[in-house]
Amino acid sequence: MAKVYVFDHPLIQHKLTYIREKSTGTKEFRELVDEVATLMAFEITRDMPLEEIEIETPVEKTKSKVLSGKKLGIIPILRAGIGMVDGILKLIPAAKVGHIGLYRDPETLLPVEYYVKLPSDVEERDFIVVDPMLATGGSAVEAINSLKKRGAKHIKFMCLIAAPEGVETVKEAHPDVDIYIAALDEKLNDHGYIVPGLGDAGDRLFGTK
Ligand code: URA
Repeated sequence: MAKVYVFDHPLIQHKLTYIREKSTGTKEFRELVDEVATLMAFEITRDMPLEEIEIETPVEKTKSKVLSGKKLGIIPILRAGIGMVDGILKLIPAAKVGHIGLYRDPETLLPVEYYVKLPSDVEERDFIVVDPMLATGGSAVEAINSLKKRGAKHIKFMCLIAAPEGVETVKEAHPDVDIYIAALDEKLNDHGYIVPGLGDAGDRLFGTK
């Protein structure tokens, strides 16, 4: 069964407060999302495998650990997911970045793929799918379906704020995908916004309305 991790680190919670605050402008919002993504990446990479290599310090030869060359891919769900990519790349600069774009079919209300561009070696990579908001879970489930359909085997999902409904939907559809959250909010409102949430993450990141 999927595990759900809520990062209650004080730095993450502090920055998240100002991300939520409606008077926070675009520039600061973008910077804070970037910083929280970096902090979350630090936690999400905790299980990365290590191997020992031999090195020589100025004092003596010794064995020391380095990352064992695991290949990673970051997949932002367009468009708000883009706001989290640079923050993760600060810690994992060699990761490849794929993109998945989805729109909501006005009749079925279900998410439909309109753009998918992934690294060529999908089967060999571990993926982190990112989207600041996990609301109904529809987009997350569809983005993970997209990745799995193309051969991805190890996937994590990371967001800033989740609604309980979205977490349940992703857990049910993808029990093999662990979910990493900065805050688990109360609920979705009738317009599909997370409450208390932060509003529309894409609009706030890109200064649109
Ligand atoms: N997407 C957003 O940007 N905000 C929400 O509250 C829900 C979905």
